[in-house]
Amino acid sequence: MKTFNTLQDERMSDWFKEDPKRFEKFSLTVGDILLDYSKNLITEESIEQLVDLANDSDLKNKMNALFSGEKINFTEERAALHTALRDDKNPDITATLQKMEKFVHKIREEKEITDIINIGIGGSHLGPEMVIQALRDPKSSLRCHFISNVDNTHIDEVLNQLNPDTSLFIISSKTLSTLETLSNIKKIRERFTQKLNFVAVTANPKKALEIGVSEDHIFPFWDFVGGRYSVWSAVGLPVALMIGMDKFLEFLKGANAMDQHFHTAPFKRNMPVILALLGIWYINRFDATTQAIIPYSDRLNLLPMYLQQADMESNGKTVDREGNTLQTATGPILWGAQGINGQHAFYQLLHQGSHLVPIDFILVAEGSNDILVGSALSQAQALMEGKSYDDVLAELMASGMPEEKAKQLAPHKVIPGNKPSNIIFLKALTPFNLGALIALYEHKIFVQGMIWNINPYDQWGVELGKQLLTPILKELTTTTSTTQYDSSTNGLINFYKKNT
Ligand code: F6P
Repeated sequence: MKTFNTLQDERMSDWFKEDPKRFEKFSLTVGDILLDYSKNLITEESIEQLVDLANDSDLKNKMNALFSGEKINFTEERAALHTALRDDKNPDITATLQKMEKFVHKIREEKEITDIINIGIGGSHLGPEMVIQALRDPKSSLRCHFISNVDNTHIDEVLNQLNPDTSLFIISSKTLSTLETLSNIKKIRERFTQKLNFVAVTANPKKALEIGVSEDHIFPFWDFVGGRYSVWSAVGLPVALMIGMDKFLEFLKGANAMDQHFHTAPFKRNMPVILALLGIWYINRFDATTQAIIPYSDRLNLLPMYLQQADMESNGKTVDREGNTLQTATGPILWGAQGINGQHAFYQLLHQGSHLVPIDFILVAEGSNDILVGSALSQAQALMEGKSYDDVLAELMASGMPEEKAKQLAPHKVIPGNKPSNIIFLKALTPFNLGALIALYEHKIFVQGMIWNINPYDQWGVELGKQLLTPILKELTTTTSTTQYDSSTNGLINFYKKNT
């Protein structure tokens, strides 16, 4: 197999010169989304081998299990049926969408509500905020705020802007047991003494009734929907309120179109499968530890953060389905930020640093501008081509620099190049296309999880911190010196108690 050791001696830029059809061969279009993966350290042979890997991992049967609602989240004995939220078949899902539609219509028609406040964290926050940021109508007078963190500074900032009588508070929590969310509801109730307009979006309707939300204001979802896969459910209520139900349904349709593609396209022409295999190629063959998502669109500036939860909470695992410790690396450290701004911040490391960072550039054609698109394209080109020592030296000497000085400076100006990137180009940032884009990444994460033979749908790793929080919280309220923990924890607790 052509691994890094053999491929690193070859130049991607040479492959383009040798094969004028490279773009055609290594690009795919699904609906309005173009994936150009030609600037990767891959040959046709590498793709064949990666597709074999997918076949050897029994991927097709695993995909069928996902779509048919088998309990593939076996550690929690649950299905992972986020795809059912967008396929128009399940009567409970349809009923909830109808309930949402009625509610959204009423709020948008009556125009009595001026502010929507989403109280939720993680999957009950990141999706709605990202989608609203991407699709909101800048002319709309309806405002949406997100309270997720328990930091008083932010909560006060939001609450100070509100007229409680014209505010709609959406409690969004799958479990309704999340400390941050419960604490924020309490804070809001303490701040405003009048009766507030609360609705709850939850898979625990009993708890919603207990905390005083009326039944007709409870929007259910189900334990077969993972928090980080829940923006398609009633968790998307703030989205539907902000962009209208029709557009929210378009968003679901776009995701469904990507589901269909994923379920039926041959692996070699399957966008989520290709994206997943490329990720595996770099993580497992090139020891890349991170993956950057860089949107060149202001409206998509929350996408990296959203995908960070989707990917890292899913595939941040080291134990396989049989309980054995894996011998290979799994999910990447996913990070990213807006492109143009990033160029003036972290791109230096991408071009000349010691880490190999595969990048997904996300671009939008309609409504964009030439500088934005041109910048992304030139960065992808610079990452691929780099600049050799000889070229740098010739350039310096041509500018009149004495040879000795040019030789001293040249090594600092060499750009190694041969750095991989994908370009994901959307024709337009419509609800449909955004739905398809998110579903693309959801399925990419699934494919990687299946090939690594892990369960992408649980998140036991976040539980221990939650367990340890309760006794620490208790300790923070005592006045005596804390001594029962390790010296670091004791020292920090005592520092806080002294200074609070
Ligand atoms: O702590 C992680 C997590 O469980 C996420 O998976 C989830 O999206 C988030 O907390 C919020 O959970 P809930 O919606 O139940 O409040």
